[in-house]
Amino acid sequence: MNNLLVLDTSPRKDAVSRSLTEGFISAWGDKFSDASIVHRDIGANPPEHIDDELIDALRRDPDHLSDRQTAAIAASDAMIAELAAADVIVVGAPMHNFTISGALRTWIDHIARPGKTFGYDPETGPHGLLDDKPVYVISTRGGKYGDGDPEDPNPADFQSGYLRHIFGFIGLKNFNIIAANGMDMGGDHRANGIKEAKDKINNVIAAA
Ligand SMILES: Cc1cc2nc3c(=O)[nH]c(=O)nc-3n(C[C@H](O)[C@H](O)[C@H](O)COP(=O)(O)O)c2cc1C
Repeated sequence: MNNLLVLDTSPRKDAVSRSLTEGFISAWGDKFSDASIVHRDIGANPPEHIDDELIDALRRDPDHLSDRQTAAIAASDAMIAELAAADVIVVGAPMHNFTISGALRTWIDHIARPGKTFGYDPETGPHGLLDDKPVYVISTRGGKYGDGDPEDPNPADFQSGYLRHIFGFIGLKNFNIIAANGMDMGGDHRANGIKEAKDKINNVIAAA
């Protein structure tokens, strides 16, 4: 019930999001000593960008794949299996150019797969295939963009709404943003933003 999947998606080694996900992992491990924790560092080891050969892999007979296509499908299957096995998902997500990092975008290209994580019905449209579970996105931003509330969205925050949509698209509708605002504003702004995010993380773990 308490199995955790943590994705780090910042390219920076000393990323704020990385230190916040580390705090989450450590507090989760303290609370649930029998929890399995899978930690995938997409920022340090980004999945391959998709291209013509990799898109073709999804359409081709599995017996006629190139070695690269076989490896890419296996990697995608493994990433999807991690998502399906987790009870709770945590994503450390820096805001880059008002949206997500390139690494996170590429990971999404590998896990949003027809027949695996979403289906499409011509009558009713798309539907997610994963069982719902909580997703916590720890979003670190240089400036201030609010807390990702869909009822009161910040017009420059293209990260929260996009992630809420794509996770919902694959079936994960219990979606939550934990924002760390003002990371590049120095002084109290940065310290307050980190404290606010840490308090929210503690509340999530206390309520789990
Ligand atoms: C390529 C790049 C683009 C960025 N774009 C934005 C942006 O659009 N808005 C913003 O507030 N901060 C932006 N920043 C600042 C980061 O959001 C900020 O440094 C944050 O702490 C990064 O998270 P991390 O420390 O977890 O990597 C950008 C940083 C980089 C490296």
